[in-house]
Amino acid sequence: MRQSSLVVVSNRLPIDDSVAPDGACEWRRSPGGLAGALHAILDRTPATWVGWGGKVGDAPALPDIGSLRMRPMGLTSEEHSGYYEGFANSTLWPLYHDAVLPPVFDRGWWETYRAVNQRFARAAAEAVEPGGTVWVQDYHLQLVPQMIRELRPDVLIGFFLHVPFPPPELFMQLPRRLDLLRGMLGADLVGFQRPQAAHNIAQLAVKLLGARVTGDDQITLDGRAIRTGAFPMSIDVAEMQALAARRDVRERAAQLRSDLGRPRRVLLSVDRLDYIKGIEHRLTAYSELLRDGRVKVRDTVMVQVAVPSRERVDSYRALRHRIEGEVGRINGEHGRVGEPAIHYLIQPFDRAELAALYQTADVMVVTPLRDGMNLVAKEYVAARADASGALVLSEFAGAADELEDAFLVNPHDVDGLKETLLRAMEADPADLERRMTAMRSHLVGHDIVAWARAYLTTLDRTGRVAAGLR
Ligand code: UDP
Ligand code: G6P
Repeated sequence: MRQSSLVVVSNRLPIDDSVAPDGACEWRRSPGGLAGALHAILDRTPATWVGWGGKVGDAPALPDIGSLRMRPMGLTSEEHSGYYEGFANSTLWPLYHDAVLPPVFDRGWWETYRAVNQRFARAAAEAVEPGGTVWVQDYHLQLVPQMIRELRPDVLIGFFLHVPFPPPELFMQLPRRLDLLRGMLGADLVGFQRPQAAHNIAQLAVKLLGARVTGDDQITLDGRAIRTGAFPMSIDVAEMQALAARRDVRERAAQLRSDLGRPRRVLLSVDRLDYIKGIEHRLTAYSELLRDGRVKVRDTVMVQVAVPSRERVDSYRALRHRIEGEVGRINGEHGRVGEPAIHYLIQPFDRAELAALYQTADVMVVTPLRDGMNLVAKEYVAARADASGALVLSEFAGAADELEDAFLVNPHDVDGLKETLLRAMEADPADLERRMTAMRSHLVGHDIVAWARAYLTTLDRTGRVAAGLR
């Protein structure tokens, strides 16, 4: 097998193989922020990407993307259920997002999680050339850094967690906390979205493993130094700006605006259909504003894109059911013929359509209860070339650290959310322009390439790995 100097490992590859309506096999961009954003920097890099092809069963034969080699992994139905739906998405995901839903501790899932991590580690260890670098992504693969260290002590190992890393009192609830912590600390650099996460892991390493912490960012464990730090992830700002400037996208935005019946204000939300995204709280706030006559369907409309996600997990199915009931109720009670209160779209859109939607929205409402970063918030800002538009943003999204000029809000506080929505809807255009200009200039200097360079040059101080990026 040909080896690469850089190997990226994530649960998901950036493309899924799916079946087109005519039965043919087609390649589709996979959902979520991680795969899309990493793909934006790796698509012209000579590297190997190890990950799942998105379907249960044997590994599909995926085509390489330019010089980026795909190394697809299969998942059996038992692995999909114990590792992906179980331990990753029903234990770690809710716990890491502040237990907004109670995590499930099922002893049967652990062995599958460990075994799948071992398979991914072996695949990465085979794919990396001597002295190369392996960069492991996210909560699905937390044991992989240490496993690679055992298999290939000659390589540099990075780990980046895309989701929040919880405070010690939450992490301590995990029955397998020692293995998970040791797994991550097998890396040379453990990166997070926000600084608090790095403090959390340092505290845990001292308390649970007797490690030593030096300065802000170094943990010494078993005589080995591990660096930690915050590297807030970003988007391909230039790509979104270019899309937003395209004539067909601008025409599409105008068309969308007219299809919406030319209301005075369009509110937009774009989420995976996930309980961390705060969709229900947002609907409650909007519905109360309509009920109290503070917002009228005659001049305001909401567009909610909610892409189905993890649909075989009960909590996700139940959430979809509740949201659809609530949207139906709100439209039934407040809509008028030809004037729904909410347009609810459970379809994934491509980037050009999203760019058009972002341009259509006067107020972008991004109100997760907890979110590692939230790239949608950044995409909205990048798409607003004329510096108009308001961003309502949850304080509990990583993006709030950087987009301080958004209308920041606590999404758990429905009254506060209502007031903030009204403030954003009624804001003075000059104030909006000032806010948007500040956010846009921050983003230009902090795009996805800057993120990857910052991480990789901290991992490999020689700059060799980062030099391969576009
Ligand atoms: N996205 C998309 N099509 C859609 C909805 C979302 O391509 O219909 C993309 C969106 O542009 C963003 C990503 O999915 O890049 C979502 O990332 P985010 O960090 O906001 O949330 P995640 O889904 O990773 O939790
Ligand atoms: C979040 C996670 C990613 C994940 C994405 C989509 O962004 O951090 O690791 O890929 O959600 O979720 P899915 O379960 O469809 O991969």
